[in-house]
Amino acid sequence: MMKTLALVTSAGSLPIDVDMPLLLQACRSLGLHAEVCDWEDPDVPWGRFDAAVLRSPWNYVDALPAFMAWCDRVAPVTRLFNPPQVARWSLDKRYLSDLARLGVPVVPSCFVAPQDNVDAVLHGFLHDFLKSQPQAAEIVVKPTVGAYSRDVQRFHRDRLDLAAGYIRTLHARCHQVILQPYLSSIDRDGETNLAFFDGQYSHAIRKSAMLMADGTVHVPTQDLRQARDADADEQAVAGAALRAAALHLGLREPLLYARVDLVRNDEGQPMVLELEICEPSLNLPFAEGSALRFAQAMARRVGH
Ligand SMILES: Nc1ncnc2c1ncn2[C@@H]1O[C@H](COP(=O)(O)OP(=O)(O)O)[C@@H](O)[C@H]1O
Ligand SMILES: [Mg+2]
Repeated sequence: MMKTLALVTSAGSLPIDVDMPLLLQACRSLGLHAEVCDWEDPDVPWGRFDAAVLRSPWNYVDALPAFMAWCDRVAPVTRLFNPPQVARWSLDKRYLSDLARLGVPVVPSCFVAPQDNVDAVLHGFLHDFLKSQPQAAEIVVKPTVGAYSRDVQRFHRDRLDLAAGYIRTLHARCHQVILQPYLSSIDRDGETNLAFFDGQYSHAIRKSAMLMADGTVHVPTQDLRQARDADADEQAVAGAALRAAALHLGLREPLLYARVDLVRNDEGQPMVLELEICEPSLNLPFAEGSALRFAQAMARRVGH
């Protein structure tokens, strides 16, 4: 029997999902039947698919409870990749503290909840991290749930009043907040996004810095990305992050797909900025053969 896959998107995101056409083509070349499905379409018979693969349901950021409820509803009637507990854990950047506890080098992160004393946390953070990294002139403030650099801002360490005001603004909008030192290597080298299929490194890109010194925040459009190979130490850190995630979540098999975003700190050590294991853009147009590797990994999971 021919296996069928649902590639899960949202109506508004499909036009900007540059991976989708390549993935569909790769599935066709393997004789794997793949259909693009909108997670919000009530008429999709999810149980008729051998698997549903989260690809670009990117409007979930504004509908997180509804999206997680959808994942929990669909997972029992088909096979959802990556599974709901993976999505749930990875959609809130507080997972960085779980990775850090497991020994993964992550960008030093401090979390501020709405009930915390903002000034006390900010000063404690400055004391702990910026004193040990005197060259870090700036800090980054961002919500723990977000994407596309939305609401991410950088502040000079001498303008903590501005940072505190911004933290309170995010709190008033019911966000938990992360503070990080601004890793300035990103201005020169960008960040590196590594893609993995079935736990195997596939390819990488360089993504330019999104936070400009004048306060402008870019969204990560295609022109700000370029193909590059990940260095051996980057592949090692990304692999360790994925193994730690699997351990933390008690997974019995490697993640079908994953993206790990790294930035080097001032000592040159690659640090995890983000783990994208729910619905990552995988930069397939930048790496020949990557869409086929992804399709092959999906085919193996459904026994095609
Ligand atoms: N600590 C940091 N140092 C330097 N740049 C950062 C830092 N945190 C975030 N950025 C910049 O902001 C962008 C968005 O932040 P990120 O943590 O990737 O969140 P998301 O992509 O989920 O919005 C990154 O791509 C990077 O350019
Ligand atoms: Mg990012």
